[in-house]
Amino acid sequence: MIKRTDFPDDFLWGASTASHQVEGGTVNQWSVWELAHAADRAQTAKQRLDWMPSWPDIRHEAEDPANYVSGKAVDHYNRFEEDFDIVKVMGLNAFRFGIEWSRLQPTEGAWDVAAVQHYHDYIAALRKRGIEPILNLWHWTQPTWFTDKGGFTKRANLVHWNAFVKRVAEEYASDLRIVLTLNETNVYSTFSYLGDEWPPGHKNVREYLSVNLNLITAHKQAYRAFKAVNPDVQIGMAQNMSMDLPLTDSVLDKLTAKVAGYAWNYTVVDRVKHYCDFIGFNYYFANYWHDFKRHNPKEPLNDMGWYMEPSRVYDLIMQVHKRYGKPIYITENGVADAKDEHRQWWLEQTIEAMAKARADGADLRGYMHWSLLDNFEWAEGWWPKFGLIKVDRKNGFKRTARASAKWWAKWLRADT
Ligand code: BGC
Repeated sequence: MIKRTDFPDDFLWGASTASHQVEGGTVNQWSVWELAHAADRAQTAKQRLDWMPSWPDIRHEAEDPANYVSGKAVDHYNRFEEDFDIVKVMGLNAFRFGIEWSRLQPTEGAWDVAAVQHYHDYIAALRKRGIEPILNLWHWTQPTWFTDKGGFTKRANLVHWNAFVKRVAEEYASDLRIVLTLNETNVYSTFSYLGDEWPPGHKNVREYLSVNLNLITAHKQAYRAFKAVNPDVQIGMAQNMSMDLPLTDSVLDKLTAKVAGYAWNYTVVDRVKHYCDFIGFNYYFANYWHDFKRHNPKEPLNDMGWYMEPSRVYDLIMQVHKRYGKPIYITENGVADAKDEHRQWWLEQTIEAMAKARADGADLRGYMHWSLLDNFEWAEGWWPKFGLIKVDRKNGFKRTARASAKWWAKWLRADT
């Protein structure tokens, strides 16, 4: 097995989170949507999810409307010091977090000074423990006053985003070395504007295209805002990327995999590459294509029914390396696994793959596991468990390390 010392000392080993999924008490377009749709989600759970092998185990939670409300989440807003102690004890040296726009600007033009101070304290608490703070500016949630104006569908609304990123840069850029602008523009625009399960639930191709174009500009605005305050800060985005492969040797399958991989992974990143100091990506899937359709193996599957092939991250790192020739960070990677049956294997496979990619020339500089804590999984709510640390929301939000976390901590600490 590869050791931590096979990686450079300054390699960042971290965990990743998103404000809405962990903080608790957020009021934004997503929290409003949750309350409006919780009953319906619970009622339709069986028809959506009973094909999954995990259904008998998750049924109880998935059919409960409370599952679909983020509420107090895992109270990370109040317990961040305790959570950073866990990060430290595990031997991690980095942490990815989000700043919640709706907290900073709950109403148009007004800044909540207590919230602004909160994130100063938050970053200082990471620094105090020697943990590198990796800020992600936007993870899908928006203040309702912004979405009431049409959110990112309207170019004119970017003036509000620009004001937000300027203020965030003025406040925090000098305390940061690494900043992610946007999380998964592809997942957001697809689920929110081509599907109807995510807010605003519009199926509208024109809006889908506008959102993508406007998010490209939003990335550039954030890049300029941060560089203006701190030219040394390294900026990238966290795009969702998959490894797309042909199921057979046929020309058609090869072409489908190529086109699907390009469209999903690179359409947006190609357009912001001159505004990226590094490429950040989130990896969860390998996809096998046959006759224009996805034909993934039936196992192994995670609790959400996603086919797991962690070692394929090697191919993806090499693809990104060859395409852009820039430093790379894996900004999310993990598995929904309530019984903790696969997480250690997933980590082992990923570590091997990363070491191999580095040996083959890729400038991979960090790995952020998704996630530190069990958290609110968007339209699926609470039943998917991605945490290294289990959280008992019914028992004082008690945090308990899963066996895989203990294994990883041992691996991380063995040579430090
Ligand atoms: C998102 C996370 C999410 C994770 C697991 C990523 O697409 O950025 O917010 O929890 O996948 O589904």
